Amino acid sequence: MKKSLVVKTSIYLFALIFICAVSKAQEKPAIIPEPVSLVQGKGRFVIDNQTSLIIPSGNAELAMLGSHANEWFSVLTGFSLPVKNKTTEAGCSIRLLLNPSLNNPGNDEGYELSITEHDVKLQARKAAGLFYGLQTIRQLLQLSAESKEQCGNLPVVEIIDYPRLKWRGLMLDVSRHFFSKDFVKKYIDDMARYKFNVFHWHLTDDQGWRIEIKSFHRLTEVGAWRVPRTGQWWSYTPPQKDEKASYGGYYTQQDIKEVIAYAAERHITIVPEIDVPGHSLAAIAAYPYLSATGYNYAVNPGSKFYNIDDNTLNPADERVYAFLDKVFTEVVALFPGDYVHIGGDECTKNFWQQSAVVQDFMKQQGIKTEHELQSYFIKRVEKILKKKKKKIIGWNEILEGGLAPEATVMSWQGMQGGIEAAKQGHQVIFTPSSNTYLDLYQGDPLLEPNTYDMLRLKTAYQWNPVPAGIDSSYVLGGQGNLWSESVPTGRHAEYMTWPRSLALSEVFWSPSGKQNWADFQTKLAPQFKILDAAQINYSRAAFDVLATTKLDQEKQLLVSLSTDVDGLDIYYTLDNTNPDSSSARYNGTPIVIPKGIYQIRAQSFKGNAAVGKLLIAPCGELEKRTR
Ligand code: ACM
Repeated sequence: MKKSLVVKTSIYLFALIFICAVSKAQEKPAIIPEPVSLVQGKGRFVIDNQTSLIIPSGNAELAMLGSHANEWFSVLTGFSLPVKNKTTEAGCSIRLLLNPSLNNPGNDEGYELSITEHDVKLQARKAAGLFYGLQTIRQLLQLSAESKEQCGNLPVVEIIDYPRLKWRGLMLDVSRHFFSKDFVKKYIDDMARYKFNVFHWHLTDDQGWRIEIKSFHRLTEVGAWRVPRTGQWWSYTPPQKDEKASYGGYYTQQDIKEVIAYAAERHITIVPEIDVPGHSLAAIAAYPYLSATGYNYAVNPGSKFYNIDDNTLNPADERVYAFLDKVFTEVVALFPGDYVHIGGDECTKNFWQQSAVVQDFMKQQGIKTEHELQSYFIKRVEKILKKKKKKIIGWNEILEGGLAPEATVMSWQGMQGGIEAAKQGHQVIFTPSSNTYLDLYQGDPLLEPNTYDMLRLKTAYQWNPVPAGIDSSYVLGGQGNLWSESVPTGRHAEYMTWPRSLALSEVFWSPSGKQNWADFQTKLAPQFKILDAAQINYSRAAFDVLATTKLDQEKQLLVSLSTDVDGLDIYYTLDNTNPDSSSARYNGTPIVIPKGIYQIRAQSFKGNAAVGKLLIAPCGELEKRTR
C-alpha cells in the first residue's frame, strides 16, 4: 500500500471510529422496560480487569447479587471483577449500596444508577432494587457492544427507576404440555432480565396434574400422563381402550423447591395454581370419587370433552374438601409466597345440575343457583387456605354468585371483571385476553401456527393496566398468560412469549407517560440482539404482512395490508409471482381484487431488502375472512 493511501485510510478509519463513538454516546440506550427517568451525559465508563465490584460485607443476599453480576459480566466481557467490600475503595469501581433513606416513591423495588467516566454507583433501598439496577447495567453493557470484544463499557447516565405495578407476572401452563424443570428455570431467567417478579405456574388442568402430592400419589402416577397426540388440539382422537398413557411428566417436591429457590435468587415469587372446581379432569382420572359423576375417565389428551366428560369437583361432598385440605397443606409447605391461585374459571355446571346429590345439597344449604354453589365452594377453599395463612387468587368467574371475602381477582375476560371486583374493594390483577394472552397467534394466520385468535405486538403494548373509574390502589398488577394447548415445545413457548412480553414488561413497569409505541419499536432491533445472545427463540411476526379483508357493495373482495411495526414498505403481486421492491407498492388504499385472481403474495421491505416473511394468501381463504 502506498504511504499516502495508508495515511488516508488511517484518517478515514479514525474519523469512522470517532463518528461511531460520538453517535453511540448520543444514542438513547434502548432499555426495556423504559426507566422512569434517564438523563444522558457525555463519555463512557470502561470496564476492564482493573475494575472492582464493591459490595458491602455481611449480607448474603448482596453477596448473591455480586455473584450473579459477575456471571453476567464474565459472559459479556470475558472476565469477572474482583469483589471488594470497602465502600471507600479507590479506583474505578461498580459500587452497590443499600440506602434505606433513598426516596423513590413508595416501593422497595426502585433503584438509582449513576454512571460517570470514573465509577458506577447503584443504590437501592432493598436487594430487589439492586437486582433490577443490575439488569439495567447488564442491558446497557449489551446495548453498547457491537461485538463481544468491545463489550465492556457503559454510557454516562443518571437513572432513577421504579415499577408502576407491584405484580408483574407471566403464567406458564405446564398441564396441556409438560415443560422440564430446566426449561422452567430458563423461562424464569428470561423473565428476570425484563424485571418481571411473579411466575404463575399453572400446575393442574384437565390434561395433566404436574405437582407431586405425597398423600395422593395417584395424582401423578395417573394424572400426570395422557395418551400421546399430535395434530390440532381439541380435534385429537380420545384415548382408545388399552392405549398407553405415555405423554406427560411432573415435578417432584424436590424439583419444585429447586425452582422456587432459583426464582427467589432472581427476585421472582412463584404462585402455584391448582385449578378447581372445573378443569379438574386429571385429578378425577386419578380419584373418580372427586366428581359427582364418579365415572372412571382417562386424562384428556386434547380431544373435545367439555360438557361431555365431567371435569368438575363435587361441591356437595366433604371428601372433596378433605382432599383439597391435604393437597393445599403440601402445596403451601413448598411455596413461600402469600398467594395460592385456585383457578375457578370455566366451571361447567351441567353435571351439578344433573346430580341428585348436588341438587339435594343445594336445597339443604339454601343455595339457589349453580353460580351460588360455585361461590360456596370457592369460599370453602378460601377458608382452607386462610387457615394455612395464604390468600387466594381466582380467575374472574369467582365473581359469579358472590366473591369470597378476601379473594384477589385475575381479570381475563376483558377488564370488566376486574373493575367490578375493585369496586367491591378487592385486589385485582389485570390480564385481559385481548392484550395479554400469549397463546394467541401474533400475525397473519397463514404465517403463524394456528390458535383461536390474534394478539399483535402493538396490542400487547397499547393498553392501560390501570383502568379509569376505579381506585388504582386496588390494582395489584398485570400479567401475560401462556396457555400451552398449541405449545408442544419450549422453543415454541419462547416464540409465543417474546417479544410480546417485552411489550408487557414495559406496560407493567414503566410510567404510563413513558409508554410510547414509536419509541418501543426503535428498541426492538437492539433488544433482539440481546434475545439472540440469550438463545431465546423470539418471534419476528410484527415485521410480517397481515391481510385484512372486507367486501364492497358489489361484493368485490377488498384487501388491506399492514405490518405491526411502522416504517416498512409492502410490495405485492396478484400474478402468483414473488414480490420484490419493483413490484406494486401497497399505498394504504385497500386493493380491489378482480374476479379470477387466485392469490395475493405480499412481503415487507426496508429499502430493497425483504424484512418479513412472504405471505401467500389464496383469495378463497381471504374471502372466508369476510364472513
Ligand atoms: C382462562 O383463560 N380460562 C382463565
